[in-house]
Amino acid sequence: MQASTVGQSVAWGKVILFGEHAVVHGHPAIAFPLPQVGLTATATPSPGPLWLTVDIYDGPLASAPPMLAPLRATIIATLDLIGREPRNLHVTCIGDFPLERGLGSSAAGAASIVNAIADLTGDDLSRPVRHSLVQTGERVAHGNPSGLDAYTVLSRSPIWFQDGQAENIEVNLGAPIVVADSGQPGDTHSAVGAVTAMMRTNPEEVAGYFATIRDHTVAARENLLKDERATLGRRMNEVHEALRSLSVSSPHLDQLVYSAREAGALGAKLTGGGRGGCIIALARDAQHGQDLARSMEQAGALQTWILNPEEFEK
Ligand code: MEV
Repeated sequence: MQASTVGQSVAWGKVILFGEHAVVHGHPAIAFPLPQVGLTATATPSPGPLWLTVDIYDGPLASAPPMLAPLRATIIATLDLIGREPRNLHVTCIGDFPLERGLGSSAAGAASIVNAIADLTGDDLSRPVRHSLVQTGERVAHGNPSGLDAYTVLSRSPIWFQDGQAENIEVNLGAPIVVADSGQPGDTHSAVGAVTAMMRTNPEEVAGYFATIRDHTVAARENLLKDERATLGRRMNEVHEALRSLSVSSPHLDQLVYSAREAGALGAKLTGGGRGGCIIALARDAQHGQDLARSMEQAGALQTWILNPEEFEK
């Protein structure tokens, strides 16, 4: 790869359709990219201390607030790997990405920065190496990340993910998915920790919830291929109940999920780490997608995005 004078890269959001939390413990998951929210990172040579500019901070990387510790870990690991001192560099990462909403902001920030630095220096980092650099930050953010987010924020296609391996899947869903932001920050770290703690205290119960989630995830792959929307919606409802039982929902998320169903969604569930963040709701068709998004905003969603699976790369 040739070095550039300014390194630049983009990454975008993701929504998990099926399998969050269970995926941390070896079960499969299905995730879609959410291109409506994105981040652009740049890396530019600049004399002095390593400087970071993001939406919430502009200053030396070494003095960045604790919330940026994951990004810091990824930047340091990247420079270390390519044999560069952590100075004489200005890294920026700016976008319209709502933070802590289960949409993958930490992975997208890290992935775009790794790629921008590699673009600047011309280092030819393989995809697994880039992924592991993003995972360095994700471990600081989430404790025990499955790696799903790190793949999906750089993918243009739906992803099937299990045990660290990602593959693209074919989706022929002819109806949109409405993503509705509860406006409340999620807490993936504590939610993942709570599920792991529950596995210790109630192993059989948790194994049962994971089996439910896994069975729906496996079957949903076929439903997505064949555009079996009604069945898919029913699976989303059932998985939401399993996630509630795993204590990763919240009253606000439940209320949005129930409002979506009342507004005619074929199914609705929380997405991502939970305990705040976003829900996803499956519309009946394109027109209903618009109506459903409006209903979600009337029901208290801070903002909504309409995800049209027909626009994914095949
Ligand atoms: C977070 O977006 C999804 C979780 O399954 C955690 C992970 O996969 O690392 C909750």
